[in-house]
Amino acid sequence: MRQVAGPSFPLWESRGYESHFSNYVDEAERPFLHLTPLVGWMNDPNGFSYYEGRYHLFYQYNPYDTKWGPMHWGHAVTDDFIHWDYLPVAIAPDMPYDDGGGCFSGSALTLPNGKHLLMYTGVAAGGRRVDGKAVDRQVQCLAVGDGHDYHKYEGNPVIDEQMLPEGCTAEHFRDPKIWQESDGTYRCVVANLAADELGQILLFSSDDAFHWKYEGVLAKNDGTYGAMWECPDYFELNGKQLLLLSPQDMLPVAHEFHGGNNSIAFIGHVDDETGAYVPEHCQTIDHGIDFYATQTMLTPDGRRIMVAWMQNWDTVSSVGPDDRIYGQMIIPREISVVDDKLYQWPVRELNTRRRNRVAYEGVRLDDTLMSLDGISGRCIDLNVTVRSADVNNPYREFTLWFAQDETFHTSLRYRPGKGELKINRTRSGSRRALLHHRKCIVTGERDELNFRLILDRKCAEFFFNDGEQTISITIPTAQAADGISFFAEGNIVMDVEKFDLTGADDIVR
Ligand code: FRU
Repeated sequence: MRQVAGPSFPLWESRGYESHFSNYVDEAERPFLHLTPLVGWMNDPNGFSYYEGRYHLFYQYNPYDTKWGPMHWGHAVTDDFIHWDYLPVAIAPDMPYDDGGGCFSGSALTLPNGKHLLMYTGVAAGGRRVDGKAVDRQVQCLAVGDGHDYHKYEGNPVIDEQMLPEGCTAEHFRDPKIWQESDGTYRCVVANLAADELGQILLFSSDDAFHWKYEGVLAKNDGTYGAMWECPDYFELNGKQLLLLSPQDMLPVAHEFHGGNNSIAFIGHVDDETGAYVPEHCQTIDHGIDFYATQTMLTPDGRRIMVAWMQNWDTVSSVGPDDRIYGQMIIPREISVVDDKLYQWPVRELNTRRRNRVAYEGVRLDDTLMSLDGISGRCIDLNVTVRSADVNNPYREFTLWFAQDETFHTSLRYRPGKGELKINRTRSGSRRALLHHRKCIVTGERDELNFRLILDRKCAEFFFNDGEQTISITIPTAQAADGISFFAEGNIVMDVEKFDLTGADDIVR
């Protein structure tokens, strides 16, 4: 995609590099609760799966730099989605013909023989555009392993452009999401750029996960949702069929879809007679600035958990000169569909990290900036409900400032009249002229707003109205800025509850 398949990067070299140079990462650079790369650069989550009693999460990884580059799969495991143990690099772009241009995004599952299967996109050499220009081809490959070491399948690639009908391109053909059906057969969806320059999601099937057959186009972009689609995921949830994907080059639509790289969810059903996917409704997954490339998995206790890269291609140029890591994941979220809407909530395991509860009920807030004793911090779980003190005289605006001192703050503003939420990190300490604010509209009851804020060293995740909408952003603010203030235009009654969130080291198991 971004380079013609290139030199080989041996696995042993990347493992040696990361085990040595990760020692130079200042632990204060890492958030407490959000997964970051062991060293270097991280983008999309990959291979999110449950294998041999632990949750595995791989990630797009360039250990050698804090910029995107030769894509490896970094690897981490967890029991609770919060504390992660790093494992060595899983796969490297070391097969010049199949994946020398990168081991791009993909997914994982457990094979009947107990092995862990990774399905990924190899960026391969040898493609040509119709105008003769040499370009990469993207092909789908496999690697099989034991949860620690993985061997690339000798039959790679298992899906390439020769299987595709007329009207598909090989230059943009990536991010396989594999799953097993209840009858034991396998399916995968892969993103593709059609010849008309619009994205589509292709469906493949297999009896054994190694030999694949093209089934058809599951969904096609009609131009409403950007151009190329990346990182598809397809699953059933609460009686609905969901297709999640990340479109590139979107034009904004009201306050629902922002311009650039988005992550969107189609909620629909499968037609009984034709077997076709029928989307009924489409929404943004997260209204923040730093969110992209979702991937989900099903836990043994039946929860559908979603993870995403807490960054976005449109805002990635904020790396500092001395930083040794770049990129982080959101805290994995439990997702559900209620009334045809996607709801998201931090995994329940996060609650075991809560300490030192401080709570206020019925606090009156009027036209002054107010802080509350004990409500501050940079690694906290904050729950707030606001409503008009007098319903006949509704408040006009509510504002929260956080990560605040005399110089810095980030704000969340709510205007109930328009149902408008606005996040603004212009004064968070960024020295880059990037996008720093974004708006969205809440639906339903507008006077009362409840939200949960998970604040970690370098980021904030908001969950509004029990998870109906979310906003995720990164902030570079120095840790000393740990103030929180509330402000109202009009008269508000507010309930506030705050917990400190403990980091990886002092967890009581
Ligand atoms: C999405 C993406 C994927 C690709 C990967 C490359 O962020 O562009 O489509 O597989 O990143 O790192």
